[in-house]
Amino acid sequence: MTGGQTAAALVTGANKGIGLEIVRQLSEKFSGTVYLTARDEHRGQEAAKYLQHDGRKNVQFLRMDVTDKKSIETARDFIKKSHGGLDVLINNAGIFVKTEGSMQDMMQRPPTPEALADTIATNFTGLLDVCKVMFPILRPHARVVNVSSSLGTLARMKSPELTHKLTAETLTVDELEKILADYVKSGLDEKSGYPVGGFGPYAMSKIGVTALTRVLQRDLAEDQSRPDMVINACCPGYVATDLNNNMGHLTVKQGADTPVYLATLKDGDIPRGQFVKQRKVLNWVESEGDLKATM
Ligand SMILES: NC(=O)c1ccc[n+]([C@@H]2O[C@H](COP(=O)([O-])OP(=O)(O)OC[C@H]3O[C@@H](n4cnc5c(N)ncnc54)[C@H](OP(=O)(O)O)[C@@H]3O)[C@@H](O)[C@H]2O)c1
Repeated sequence: MTGGQTAAALVTGANKGIGLEIVRQLSEKFSGTVYLTARDEHRGQEAAKYLQHDGRKNVQFLRMDVTDKKSIETARDFIKKSHGGLDVLINNAGIFVKTEGSMQDMMQRPPTPEALADTIATNFTGLLDVCKVMFPILRPHARVVNVSSSLGTLARMKSPELTHKLTAETLTVDELEKILADYVKSGLDEKSGYPVGGFGPYAMSKIGVTALTRVLQRDLAEDQSRPDMVINACCPGYVATDLNNNMGHLTVKQGADTPVYLATLKDGDIPRGQFVKQRKVLNWVESEGDLKATM
């Protein structure tokens, strides 16, 4: 940072749920401004006001819909102009497209093509677009956190060939985008080897997010001009929010802990490009564990 500039952090999908709590916890630990972003102006303003009245004076609202590239660019331009760069980015926004019935029903029923496409558009493509637009203004020592999910375990992939591609050390962003685009085209074909059932699109989107995190860490590490930029993926645990009809057994306070921990990592021997849960690095590539009960 040059003289007069102040630090900036940005959290997506932060008007409620885990995102709102991430902003609250981060605003206590972060010395600059924390931008609470939301796709809906009113919901976002109200959420920011709620935290400001609660004493979080360094919280500001910015409108940003992760599926609307123009809104991401507008937010980027504002931060660049006001702060000169970005120090923390938490990609939290996410959806699970619900259908009628219980979670158990939803799990068993195949998704509609629209649900599949919308889920990938928000959870994977939207997150990737945020990274593409915001990464050029990341400052040295920036911390990026992608809120993924244990449901995005490779154990759900039924195609060894796809699993191999997703975990290859040479995987590129372009190749990963192609895998997800192919999934949008043929994800409903059970023979294709993608995760099946009503949670399939959500699981596939989060598999994409965790794979992307590994690729992006490699790319960030190669940037000699901006040392020590770190990105990690995490699972917040099964948290009671609107996403799961408040069925989760954890509170938002517990769910926000790991994302905020990763966003405030000091330099040194820290996780880089990892999948982290409860502040612990898990082996996403070799893990056989399908951590059920976690959205
Ligand atoms: N809850 C869990 O058990 C659990 C477990 C593992 C991972 N996660 C992940 O944690 C993250 C937060 O989920 P949550 O449980 O807090 O769910 P939530 O309460 O439903 O909150 C989701 C947030 O994302 C926002 N959002 C959705 N689409 C958006 C878009 N296009 N642009 C910007 N914001 C958008 C929502 O805004 P609106 O209010 O406008 O809809 C809302 O603020 C998600 O990525 C989710 O997949 C949750």
